[in-house]
Amino acid sequence: LSQSQLNLVDAHGGQLSTSAPISSSPSQGRMYGAVERLEPILVESSDQKSKENFLLPAHYESCIKSILISHGQILDRIQKLAYDIRRHYKGTTIHLLCVLKGGSAFFQDLQVCLRNFHNFTNQDYVPFTFDFIRAKSYDGTSSTGKVVVSGCDMEKLRGKDVLLVEDIVDTGTTMSMLVPLLVEHGPASVKVASLLEKRTPRSCGFKADFVGFSVPDEFVIGYCLDYNDAFRDMNHICVINDEGIEKFKDGVK
Ligand code: HPA
Ligand code: MG
Repeated sequence: LSQSQLNLVDAHGGQLSTSAPISSSPSQGRMYGAVERLEPILVESSDQKSKENFLLPAHYESCIKSILISHGQILDRIQKLAYDIRRHYKGTTIHLLCVLKGGSAFFQDLQVCLRNFHNFTNQDYVPFTFDFIRAKSYDGTSSTGKVVVSGCDMEKLRGKDVLLVEDIVDTGTTMSMLVPLLVEHGPASVKVASLLEKRTPRSCGFKADFVGFSVPDEFVIGYCLDYNDAFRDMNHICVINDEGIEKFKDGVK
């Protein structure tokens, strides 16, 4: 039996004990000691749904190839991620650090779930504070390979259990540079919740700790994920088409 097989697993598929040392390794997936992360929902390329099946904003309709993850699926999955986060941190006050702008829809819906736990549990819920950080490594549909961080007083992270809230781990460039940067400022721990993770050969190997969906190697948009700031105002997560890439190549006019 491997270490992970020996871990107790409850009815919702979660391990019952976790201990999480932080690591600042920039390019390797971080391990939880003996406990592996819960794996995301695998979304295959063949799971793409035709546009005819869902309502889409009229201003984007012609720019979308398909719907990959519907808004309803996103919200349901976030409830389970909130549950997993609560179980992992139970009783600990965490500091959510929303990575702008892409992470903001996920952050809002995750907050709603975490706040609801406050109402219905006497203990084992997760008090939280939050802040926002700006991290940019993308230009259009390609990674620039360097990350620019702004908008966060990192001295305030000292001693805190920081949970980064991100839209997507694609190449992993942003997170593999941001996590070690935060660790330098002395937080008690740093973990990453990412709604999406892309299966791409360009990955640097970075693995987030709480992940909603594993998506195929397509450029995805919607639910605050953008292409030059377009498509953030769309509920579903969709695949862009060539017309969309052309139309918004210089941003939203
Ligand atoms: N879509 C939007 N933003 C992104 C993506 C993507 O597929 N990958 C990295 N940032
Ligand atoms: Mg973006």
